[in-house]
Amino acid sequence: MPGLIDPTVRLRRSFLAAVAEFRADPGHPVPWFVTDVDPAALTGDDAAFGRYVARVLAERTEAGARRDAGVPMTTLWWADGDEVLGRIAIRHRLTPALARVGGHIGYDVRPSARRRGHAAAMLAAALPVGAALGITAALLTCDDTNTASRRVIEANGGRLTAAEGGKLRYLLPTS
Ligand SMILES: CC(C)(COP(=O)(O)OP(=O)(O)OC[C@H]1O[C@@H](n2cnc3c(N)ncnc32)[C@H](O)[C@@H]1OP(=O)(O)O)[C@@H](O)C(=O)NCCC(=O)NCCS
Repeated sequence: MPGLIDPTVRLRRSFLAAVAEFRADPGHPVPWFVTDVDPAALTGDDAAFGRYVARVLAERTEAGARRDAGVPMTTLWWADGDEVLGRIAIRHRLTPALARVGGHIGYDVRPSARRRGHAAAMLAAALPVGAALGITAALLTCDDTNTASRRVIEANGGRLTAAEGGKLRYLLPTS
């Protein structure tokens, strides 16, 4: 049964296979967390992958926060056994930029695992994590053309609060 896990060196092969799938997906822009990975440097090298995992885990702290996000962020992988199926990231608070676009939570499911309910289940599993971080109502934004993401958010109780400039804004109670 799939569940949320911390990024781990143990799943290096599957994570990098997922990264390759995202890069080859013609239907969607390559997610930022994929362009953040250099597969050539990480393939076959547990030590290098360990440094990558350590960096991602450190992003949960003020000191390790990504410069482009500007706030701590908890990244979790959605995995079933040894297979990484997706990832979700919870930003611990909003900046003015994130309040406009990006919101608290972003997620991606690898192309070969889509349309099997993983995103909806992954978001449901992540909401208590957001609650534990002190987020009572999570802001999620998505393009108005992203039917899949809209359905994922609405299936989790998201309330549409604004639609402007091709972007939809939802508030989701985390508990
Ligand atoms: C959006 C995304 C995460 C959905 O992942 P998923 O695991 O396929 O989603 P689910 O299987 O949980 O599907 C949720 C709902 O969306 C629907 N859906 C999924 N893909 C769809 C598509 N391409 N077109 C229309 N509906 C779609 C499902 O049928 C389901 O509907 P239901 O609630 O009526 O049953 C995935 O398509 C993805 O990673 N896309 C690229 C990145 C992205 O857009 N991330 C979100 C940014 S806001």
